[in-house]
Amino acid sequence: MAPALVDTSPQPAVHYSKSGTGEYKEAFIGGPTAFREDAELKGTGKQPPARYPLYLPVWDAEKKYPPLEAFEHYEHGRDADPRFPNLLKGAGVTDLTANIGVEITGVQLSKLTDSGKNELALFVAQKKVVAFRDQDFADIPIKDALNFGGYFGRHHIHPTSGAPAGYPEVHLVHRGAEDTTARDFFEERTNSVTWHSDVSYEKQPPGTTFLYLLDGPVAGGDTLFANQAEAYRRLSPEFRKRLHGLKAVHSAVEQADNSKNRGGIVRREPVSSVHPLVRTHPATGEKALFVNPQFTRRIIGYKKEESDFLLKFLYDHIAKGQDFQARVKWAPGTVVVWDNRVTAHSALLDWDDGQRRHLARITPQAEAPYETAFEG
Ligand SMILES: [Fe+2]
Repeated sequence: MAPALVDTSPQPAVHYSKSGTGEYKEAFIGGPTAFREDAELKGTGKQPPARYPLYLPVWDAEKKYPPLEAFEHYEHGRDADPRFPNLLKGAGVTDLTANIGVEITGVQLSKLTDSGKNELALFVAQKKVVAFRDQDFADIPIKDALNFGGYFGRHHIHPTSGAPAGYPEVHLVHRGAEDTTARDFFEERTNSVTWHSDVSYEKQPPGTTFLYLLDGPVAGGDTLFANQAEAYRRLSPEFRKRLHGLKAVHSAVEQADNSKNRGGIVRREPVSSVHPLVRTHPATGEKALFVNPQFTRRIIGYKKEESDFLLKFLYDHIAKGQDFQARVKWAPGTVVVWDNRVTAHSALLDWDDGQRRHLARITPQAEAPYETAFEG
């Protein structure tokens, strides 16, 4: 029998409802519909209560924020003593890899002077990601943690995340006790890797960024970091030259749609911004790739196939660059600081035994990305 002209067989699903919307991949399907207050406050038969209940997320559907306005960013890393006498005096310093990442012991971030904070900004820009162990950050009042972070730039209020009651500037990463969304997610996806720079769709994306652990699984939930400056340098001079002058659109729309699709909030209307593919760091002068598959959508002036082709190459280059990546393991008291301008990162959803994972991010915004001339 000849095949029917119209194919009436069931069509495959095109909407990945458990793992993201459009090109935005959501590995942690949290949000108000997944939040179980009882399990968090009282624990479950298997899991203890949340260690930091004041940091549990609330979602205020009524509260809306106006569009962000431009501001002048002051880069404190420029004022730092490059020998880091105030930051590293008495510190234990261990490189995580040969070109990205350091682990520090013996320093209390919350006690740093302004000189120490200047040095922190420069040190993190140079090392890309720094894990500070045994910190009191989670135990000091939230307003003090925010005061500390506010030194580095204007606090970003995330458009879709839950926040501790009264502190909308704190971005929470929360996967509750006995959460089962990993099983749902892996029905649709083969891996949870989501390389990105945080909120790169903003006109002035974050710079020196702080993420600290409140509760976490004994094993699992590490964070991957990629050195985007090394990723740039790894390319041939001719290829780098071609990237200079190109600009790309970064979009918040898919993240906002994803939040709406799963019953979450959108506190501020989604924006898109145009940024150079190669940006320069204001304190180190380093150039770095500034594209990521979560938020970058297309290259200005290129046809779709051309743009897709080049972006896919860059995403593969970054994702496969294990020789310019580090993997940070969390522990109680750990504060991880990265420079969002010269790194990409990814969470990993690799544990499924019901252990809670709860972190808080303080996200100072920095300058609008800019590029400087290609140097052969
Ligand atoms: Fe992130």
